[in-house]
Amino acid sequence: MLVFPDQTLTQKQHVAFAKNFGPMDHSVLKKAVADQKLRVRDDIADVSNLGPNNQILAESNRLRRMQLGNRLWHTDSAFKYVPALASLLYAREIPPVGGQTAFADLRAAYNALDDETKARLQTLVAEHSLVYSRERMGYTDWQEGERQAVDAVPQAMVRTVPQTGRKNLYVASHAGHIVGMDDAEAKPLIDALLAHATQRQFTHVHRWRVGDLVMWDNRCTLHRGLPFDDLRFRRDVQRATVQDIANSCEQEGLSPPDVHLRAAE
Ligand code: OGA
Ligand code: MN
Repeated sequence: MLVFPDQTLTQKQHVAFAKNFGPMDHSVLKKAVADQKLRVRDDIADVSNLGPNNQILAESNRLRRMQLGNRLWHTDSAFKYVPALASLLYAREIPPVGGQTAFADLRAAYNALDDETKARLQTLVAEHSLVYSRERMGYTDWQEGERQAVDAVPQAMVRTVPQTGRKNLYVASHAGHIVGMDDAEAKPLIDALLAHATQRQFTHVHRWRVGDLVMWDNRCTLHRGLPFDDLRFRRDVQRATVQDIANSCEQEGLSPPDVHLRAAE
């Protein structure tokens, strides 16, 4: 992750800078909370706690409750067939207390696995969906058609950053199942890998200042927003997201299995 402090960016400049690194990944919120009005252009993901009139979202607001999922460890757009390469998060307003962003290094997490686990994970494919991460934190308030719009996708559990050749443990709260593995084994394995990857020695916390632009590589890091009193304080952070070049299975030379959302549990 990189921090560019003291930036003054319009939304247009924010997106223009991000486009240096590849095509834009468009926010899924329009489909996932289809009835909610968004306050920013659709090549920016609004990660704020604000609504279309710049007001603090109410406790029961569906967009707010969906967005609380950002407090779980994840990597951006792993629930899309072609996930995110990089994210560029820009802080316009920050709360006086809380609301930091934590990062975990998935290269370090991979290196710290024992050889047997590394070998076992090498060819495994996880099934990711926004529905699975939201299920984890108790959000089930999908409306007609929304679940179908965020169908599950396959992602390799070990991936390599081509520029460095380094391997990463590619796991996130969006992973709900593992292809070909019984859930009774797969779910505890996903939980154990997330717990392993997010141990203190692999993590860093960014304390925001207004004007920070923070950029990270989604192929080899996890992140999560830390809590703050979002019903009281405003936090206006906005993200431009760059798409990766292909699905992670394709990049690893695994043929991507055809996966779909499993029935709600
Ligand atoms: C994001 C995200 C966490 C935060 O922008 O992708 O997860 O701290 N943000 O806002
Ligand atoms: Mn995120």
